[in-house]
Amino acid sequence: MKSKFYITTPLYYVNASPHIGHSYTTIAADVLSRYMRKKLGEENVWFLTGTDEHGQKIEKAAEAAKLTAQGFADCVVLKFKELWKGLNISYNDFIRTTEERHVKTVKNALEILYKKGDIYEDKYVGWYCTPCETFWIDSQVIDENCPDCKRKVERISETNYFFKLTKYQDWLLSYIKDNPDFIKPDSRKEEVLRFLELNKLNDLCISRPKERLSWGIPLPFAPGHVTYVWFDALVNYISAVGEFNADGKYQSRWWPAQLHLMAKDILRQHAVYWPIMLHALGIEMPESIFAHGWWMLEEEKISKSRGNVVNPVDIVRRYGLDAYRYFLLRDVPFGLDGNFSEEAVIKRYNSDLANDLGNLVYRTLTMIEKYFDGNIPDSKEGRIKYDLKGQKIINLIEGEDFVFKKVVGKAIEDYNFSQSLTEIWNIINLANKYVEETKPWNLAKESKQKELRAFITVLVKVIRNVAEELMPFMPDTSSAILEQLGKDKINKGDPLFPRLLS
Ligand code: MSP
Repeated sequence: MKSKFYITTPLYYVNASPHIGHSYTTIAADVLSRYMRKKLGEENVWFLTGTDEHGQKIEKAAEAAKLTAQGFADCVVLKFKELWKGLNISYNDFIRTTEERHVKTVKNALEILYKKGDIYEDKYVGWYCTPCETFWIDSQVIDENCPDCKRKVERISETNYFFKLTKYQDWLLSYIKDNPDFIKPDSRKEEVLRFLELNKLNDLCISRPKERLSWGIPLPFAPGHVTYVWFDALVNYISAVGEFNADGKYQSRWWPAQLHLMAKDILRQHAVYWPIMLHALGIEMPESIFAHGWWMLEEEKISKSRGNVVNPVDIVRRYGLDAYRYFLLRDVPFGLDGNFSEEAVIKRYNSDLANDLGNLVYRTLTMIEKYFDGNIPDSKEGRIKYDLKGQKIINLIEGEDFVFKKVVGKAIEDYNFSQSLTEIWNIINLANKYVEETKPWNLAKESKQKELRAFITVLVKVIRNVAEELMPFMPDTSSAILEQLGKDKINKGDPLFPRLLS
């Protein structure tokens, strides 16, 4: 792991409001950023998100809304920003592809590649899926349907500009093989390798004639054409954090990115087009690209175009923000697909949040109130003698190799969020079991003050550590726990997660 961490989400299309799928990637990026800020220091983490605003999709959506494309983008971008605020997303920068800093860099990149001979003019004949803004080669199209969204593709034929992907196919294949951590998880890497081994790439058509599409960045060397939206959008990862100097050398404090995060739907663009674009421009590769799975509703991918969206705002209103963040990252291992249902949210809420975490905090504070007048017994005041079970828990937290912190952190760094949360819950459950087995009410009855003090100290330490480790996942809950626990005297409030009736 490097000493800085630059992480990106995809730039989301502004053709409609954000849904649960967009929030998933962005929340995962937020968790990683918060974790890394703690590890490397605030100043060494850069979290970039933003919006993809050019192209046919947006032009059409704007037309339907009777707005200009820019006016339409200006409206929808606010929804994204508002949602990110509501979901407690700690991004450092938000880039829109209509911003000058981005447009300038896209034009520079095009010029460099054109001069180098990696972009050339030709006639394009092939399949095109407008909703996906994607070209498909003959072998990928069956019955004139898009292999991805399954809608009809169009046969198009026009003069365009092409980027020489073909020239770099062998280079890319070796690069991926030589850098096993470049594409993650492994199953996705294998998929890309297979694709590259079995298919000869076509050069990428990176322009659209203005008559067909006007909403885009004009090619600097052919103003009658605008830039293909994918070529435009991918450049954001470098345009947001640096620029080309007069000699065409790209300079940036943050590049290369440590991680581009996305779902598997846009892996090919990130794992094939993007590395080749960078390589052709003489720019270093990002460290890794991770493609996670999809949230589905009744076995269908949740998406704007399928119209089966789940609105994050509704879920947050019903169950609370941190329950939402928790559910998304806990219920499904990162990388796999998952089915979304409110019953599953309620189940997780009641068992993990209300019964396990909420109960541990509440019962501990209640005992501190009852047995110690609300004062947290001072662990430094005289040596504490823990019982065997207590000592085992203390060892996990404070033992020489800080096992608890380590396993939680390692899982996050492996992008295994559900595992990381499972580790946190293991200790919560251990502590709850400890309460049940110790029967503190008996210790109190028998006035065993020393034992009671040791017992409570174990719980307080667990809760403090759990709150700290939960911070990247559930920032509000983490501070609420620390606030209720106080420093010397508790500030007991209402239960953190009151049980829901299902
Ligand atoms: N604009 C392009 C990306 C350009 S990046 C330079 C795009 N935009 S998008 O709005 O369609 O967003 C796609 C991304 O949104 C996915 O890769 C994923 O991060 C997220 N998701 C959208 N729907 C999703 C699910 N149903 N499940 C999980 N994530 C999903 O593609």
